[in-house]
Amino acid sequence: MIRKFFFAGTLIVVMIILAACGTAAKPAYEADELISQAQETAASNEEMATEEAVATEEVATEEAVATEEVATEEAVATEEVATEEAVVTEEVATEEAVVTEEVATEEAASSADDPLTEAIAAANPTNGEQLFLMNGCAGCHTVDSSEMVIVGPGQYNLINRAGERVEGQGPYTYIYNSIVNPNDHVVEGFAAGIMPPSFGDLLTDEQIYDLIAYFATLHD
Ligand code: HEC
Repeated sequence: MIRKFFFAGTLIVVMIILAACGTAAKPAYEADELISQAQETAASNEEMATEEAVATEEVATEEAVATEEVATEEAVATEEVATEEAVVTEEVATEEAVVTEEVATEEAASSADDPLTEAIAAANPTNGEQLFLMNGCAGCHTVDSSEMVIVGPGQYNLINRAGERVEGQGPYTYIYNSIVNPNDHVVEGFAAGIMPPSFGDLLTDEQIYDLIAYFATLHD
Protein backbone atom coordinates (compact mmCIF):
# COMPACT_ATOMS: atom_id res chain seq x y z
CA MET A 1 0.00 0.00 0.00
CA ILE A 2 2.81 2.39 0.95
CA ARG A 3 4.57 1.44 -2.33
CA LYS A 4 1.47 2.33 -4.24
CA PHE A 5 1.42 5.77 -2.63
CA PHE A 6 5.13 6.17 -3.19
CA PHE A 7 4.68 5.38 -6.86
CA ALA A 8 1.76 7.77 -7.11
CA GLY A 9 3.79 10.40 -5.27
CA THR A 10 6.72 9.90 -7.61
CA LEU A 11 4.36 10.18 -10.57
CA ILE A 12 2.94 13.43 -9.23
CA VAL A 13 6.45 14.78 -8.64
CA VAL A 14 7.47 13.76 -12.16
CA MET A 15 4.33 15.37 -13.53
CA ILE A 16 5.03 18.54 -11.55
CA ILE A 17 8.60 18.54 -12.85
CA LEU A 18 7.33 17.97 -16.38
CA ALA A 19 4.77 20.70 -15.93
CA ALA A 20 7.48 22.96 -14.61
CA CYS A 21 9.68 22.07 -17.54
CA GLY A 22 6.86 22.93 -19.90
CA THR A 23 6.37 26.25 -18.21
CA ALA A 24 10.08 26.88 -18.21
CA ALA A 25 10.34 25.83 -21.87
CA LYS A 26 7.68 28.25 -22.98
CA PRO A 27 9.51 31.41 -21.93
CA ALA A 28 12.63 29.90 -23.50
CA TYR A 29 10.74 29.55 -26.79
CA GLU A 30 9.37 33.06 -26.45
CA ALA A 31 12.85 34.33 -25.84
CA ASP A 32 14.02 32.65 -29.02
CA GLU A 33 11.20 34.20 -30.93
CA LEU A 34 12.00 37.56 -29.45
CA ILE A 35 15.63 37.17 -30.43
CA SER A 36 14.76 36.18 -33.97
CA GLN A 37 12.27 39.04 -34.14
CA ALA A 38 14.90 41.37 -32.88
CA GLN A 39 17.30 39.97 -35.44
CA GLU A 40 14.70 40.43 -38.19
CA THR A 41 14.04 43.96 -37.07
CA ALA A 42 17.74 44.60 -37.02
CA ALA A 43 18.11 43.05 -40.46
CA SER A 44 15.25 45.07 -41.89
CA ASN A 45 16.58 48.18 -40.17
CA GLU A 46 19.90 47.50 -41.78
CA GLU A 47 18.23 46.96 -45.14
CA MET A 48 16.34 50.19 -44.75
CA ALA A 49 19.47 51.93 -43.72
CA THR A 50 21.26 50.50 -46.73
CA GLU A 51 18.38 51.45 -49.00
CA GLU A 52 18.33 54.93 -47.57
CA ALA A 53 22.07 55.16 -48.02
CA VAL A 54 21.76 53.98 -51.62
CA ALA A 55 18.87 56.37 -52.21
CA THR A 56 20.80 59.22 -50.64
CA GLU A 57 23.83 58.36 -52.74
CA GLU A 58 21.67 58.16 -55.87
CA VAL A 59 20.10 61.53 -55.12
CA ALA A 60 23.54 62.94 -54.44
CA THR A 61 24.84 61.50 -57.70
CA GLU A 62 21.81 62.79 -59.60
CA GLU A 63 22.23 66.18 -58.05
CA ALA A 64 25.90 66.14 -58.92
CA VAL A 65 25.08 65.13 -62.51
CA ALA A 66 22.36 67.74 -62.69
CA THR A 67 24.70 70.38 -61.29
CA GLU A 68 27.39 69.36 -63.76
CA GLU A 69 24.86 69.45 -66.62
CA VAL A 70 23.68 72.87 -65.58
CA ALA A 71 27.28 74.00 -65.30
CA THR A 72 28.08 72.58 -68.74
CA GLU A 73 24.94 74.15 -70.22
CA GLU A 74 25.81 77.45 -68.64
CA ALA A 75 29.35 77.17 -69.98
CA VAL A 76 28.01 76.34 -73.46
CA ALA A 77 25.48 79.18 -73.24
CA THR A 78 28.19 81.60 -72.10
CA GLU A 79 30.44 80.47 -74.93
CA GLU A 80 27.59 80.83 -77.43
CA VAL A 81 26.81 84.30 -76.18
CA ALA A 82 30.50 85.16 -76.37
CA THR A 83 30.71 83.81 -79.93
CA GLU A 84 27.54 85.65 -80.94
CA GLU A 85 28.85 88.84 -79.44
CA ALA A 86 32.13 88.36 -81.28
CA VAL A 87 30.25 87.77 -84.54
CA VAL A 88 28.03 90.80 -83.95
CA THR A 89 31.08 92.94 -83.11
CA GLU A 90 32.81 91.73 -86.26
CA GLU A 91 29.70 92.40 -88.36
CA VAL A 92 29.36 95.88 -86.90
CA ALA A 93 33.06 96.49 -87.56
CA THR A 94 32.68 95.24 -91.14
CA GLU A 95 29.59 97.36 -91.70
CA GLU A 96 31.35 100.40 -90.32
CA ALA A 97 34.32 99.72 -92.58
CA VAL A 98 31.99 99.36 -95.57
CA VAL A 99 30.16 102.57 -94.70
CA THR A 100 33.48 104.41 -94.26
CA GLU A 101 34.68 103.09 -97.62
CA GLU A 102 31.41 104.07 -99.31
CA VAL A 103 31.62 107.55 -97.86
CA ALA A 104 35.24 107.80 -99.01
CA THR A 105 34.30 106.66 -102.55
CA GLU A 106 31.40 109.11 -102.68
CA GLU A 107 33.65 111.92 -101.50
CA ALA A 108 36.25 111.04 -104.13
CA ALA A 109 33.57 110.89 -106.83
CA SER A 110 32.04 114.19 -105.81
CA SER A 111 35.35 115.95 -105.35
CA ALA A 112 35.99 119.63 -106.13
CA ASP A 113 32.44 120.53 -105.02
CA ASP A 114 31.10 119.44 -108.39
CA PRO A 115 27.90 121.47 -109.01
CA LEU A 116 26.33 118.42 -110.68
CA THR A 117 26.68 116.18 -107.59
CA GLU A 118 23.02 116.48 -106.59
CA ALA A 119 21.71 115.96 -110.11
CA ILE A 120 23.84 112.84 -110.59
CA ALA A 121 22.78 111.44 -107.21
CA ALA A 122 19.16 111.69 -108.40
CA ALA A 123 19.92 110.23 -111.86
CA ASN A 124 19.24 106.71 -113.12
CA PRO A 125 22.39 104.72 -114.02
CA THR A 126 20.38 101.82 -115.49
CA ASN A 127 18.76 104.19 -117.96
CA GLY A 128 22.25 105.61 -118.58
CA GLU A 129 23.47 102.18 -119.64
CA GLN A 130 20.58 101.89 -122.13
CA LEU A 131 21.38 105.34 -123.55
CA PHE A 132 25.04 104.36 -123.84
CA LEU A 133 24.08 101.35 -125.97
CA MET A 134 21.30 103.05 -128.01
CA ASN A 135 23.31 106.15 -128.96
CA GLY A 136 26.27 104.26 -130.36
CA CYS A 137 28.67 105.25 -127.55
CA ALA A 138 29.53 101.55 -127.14
CA GLY A 139 30.67 101.44 -130.79
CA CYS A 140 33.61 103.73 -129.92
CA HIS A 141 34.03 103.17 -126.15
CA THR A 142 34.47 99.96 -124.14
CA VAL A 143 33.28 100.02 -120.53
CA ASP A 144 35.31 96.96 -119.49
CA SER A 145 38.76 98.53 -119.62
CA SER A 146 40.42 101.91 -119.14
CA GLU A 147 43.28 101.15 -121.58
CA MET A 148 41.51 99.36 -124.39
CA VAL A 149 40.70 101.63 -127.35
CA ILE A 150 37.95 100.97 -129.89
CA VAL A 151 37.89 104.46 -131.43
CA GLY A 152 37.74 106.50 -128.26
CA PRO A 153 39.27 105.82 -124.83
CA GLY A 154 38.01 102.99 -122.56
CA GLN A 155 35.50 104.27 -119.99
CA TYR A 156 36.23 101.91 -117.08
CA ASN A 157 37.32 103.91 -114.01
CA LEU A 158 36.74 107.15 -115.96
CA ILE A 159 34.94 108.52 -112.88
CA ASN A 160 38.27 108.39 -110.98
CA ARG A 161 40.28 110.10 -113.77
CA ALA A 162 37.69 112.65 -114.89
CA GLY A 163 38.28 115.03 -111.98
CA GLU A 164 41.92 115.51 -113.02
CA ARG A 165 41.39 116.15 -116.75
CA VAL A 166 40.58 119.86 -116.70
CA GLU A 167 41.54 122.32 -113.99
CA GLY A 168 38.50 123.51 -112.05
CA GLN A 169 36.15 120.82 -113.38
CA GLY A 170 34.83 118.11 -111.09
CA PRO A 171 34.38 114.62 -112.56
CA TYR A 172 30.67 115.08 -113.37
CA THR A 173 31.14 118.48 -114.99
CA TYR A 174 34.09 117.16 -117.04
CA ILE A 175 32.10 114.19 -118.38
CA TYR A 176 29.12 116.43 -119.10
CA ASN A 177 31.32 118.79 -121.13
CA SER A 178 33.04 115.85 -122.89
CA ILE A 179 29.65 114.68 -124.17
CA VAL A 180 28.18 118.08 -125.05
CA ASN A 181 31.38 119.80 -126.31
CA PRO A 182 33.83 116.98 -127.04
CA ASN A 183 36.33 119.30 -128.74
CA ASP A 184 36.69 121.68 -125.78
CA HIS A 185 39.13 119.19 -124.32
CA VAL A 186 40.59 116.43 -126.44
CA VAL A 187 41.95 113.46 -124.54
CA GLU A 188 45.72 113.04 -124.89
CA GLY A 189 46.60 110.55 -127.66
CA PHE A 190 43.30 111.09 -129.53
CA ALA A 191 42.38 113.33 -132.43
CA ALA A 192 39.80 116.12 -132.22
CA GLY A 193 36.60 115.88 -134.27
CA ILE A 194 36.08 112.12 -134.07
CA MET A 195 33.66 112.11 -131.12
CA PRO A 196 30.40 113.41 -132.62
CA PRO A 197 29.55 116.96 -131.32
CA SER A 198 25.79 116.40 -131.76
CA PHE A 199 24.95 114.63 -128.48
CA GLY A 200 24.25 117.92 -126.71
CA ASP A 201 21.33 118.43 -129.13
CA LEU A 202 20.18 114.78 -129.24
CA LEU A 203 20.12 114.18 -125.48
CA THR A 204 18.30 116.04 -122.71
CA ASP A 205 20.26 117.13 -119.63
CA GLU A 206 18.47 114.39 -117.65
CA GLN A 207 19.65 111.77 -120.14
CA ILE A 208 23.20 113.08 -119.92
CA TYR A 209 22.96 112.92 -116.10
CA ASP A 210 21.83 109.29 -116.43
CA LEU A 211 24.87 108.59 -118.64
CA ILE A 212 27.18 110.22 -116.05
CA ALA A 213 25.51 108.20 -113.24
CA TYR A 214 26.21 105.07 -115.32
CA PHE A 215 29.90 106.04 -115.72
CA ALA A 216 30.00 106.54 -111.94
CA THR A 217 29.20 102.83 -111.48
CA LEU A 218 32.11 101.72 -113.67
CA HIS A 219 34.95 101.60 -111.17
CA ASP A 220 36.73 99.23 -108.81
C1 HEC B 1 32.71 107.81 -133.36
C2 HEC B 1 33.29 107.42 -132.08
C3 HEC B 1 32.69 107.97 -130.83
C4 HEC B 1 31.39 107.90 -130.43
C5 HEC B 1 30.17 107.34 -131.15
C6 HEC B 1 31.37 108.45 -129.09
N1 HEC B 1 32.63 108.86 -128.72
FE1 HEC B 1 33.13 109.61 -126.93
N2 HEC B 1 35.02 109.90 -127.59
C7 HEC B 1 35.53 109.51 -128.82
C8 HEC B 1 36.91 109.90 -128.95
C9 HEC B 1 37.83 109.65 -130.13
C10 HEC B 1 37.26 110.52 -127.75
C11 HEC B 1 38.61 111.10 -127.35
C12 HEC B 1 38.82 112.45 -128.01
C13 HEC B 1 38.03 113.54 -127.35
O1 HEC B 1 38.31 113.80 -126.15
O2 HEC B 1 37.15 114.07 -128.02
C14 HEC B 1 36.06 110.51 -126.94
C15 HEC B 1 35.97 111.02 -125.61
C16 HEC B 1 34.90 110.82 -124.79
C17 HEC B 1 34.90 111.18 -123.41
C18 HEC B 1 36.07 111.68 -122.62
C19 HEC B 1 36.84 110.49 -122.15
C20 HEC B 1 38.09 110.78 -121.32
O3 HEC B 1 38.76 109.76 -121.06
O4 HEC B 1 38.31 111.88 -120.88
C21 HEC B 1 33.68 110.87 -122.95
C22 HEC B 1 33.18 111.03 -121.52
C23 HEC B 1 32.92 110.34 -124.05
N3 HEC B 1 33.67 110.32 -125.15
C24 HEC B 1 31.60 109.91 -123.91
C25 HEC B 1 30.86 109.45 -124.99
C26 HEC B 1 29.45 109.14 -124.92
C27 HEC B 1 28.61 109.19 -123.66
C28 HEC B 1 29.05 108.77 -126.13
C29 HEC B 1 27.67 108.37 -126.56
C30 HEC B 1 26.57 109.27 -126.19
C31 HEC B 1 30.22 108.83 -126.99
N4 HEC B 1 31.27 109.27 -126.27
C32 HEC B 1 30.21 108.53 -128.32
C33 HEC B 1 34.80 108.85 -129.79
C34 HEC B 1 33.44 108.58 -129.76
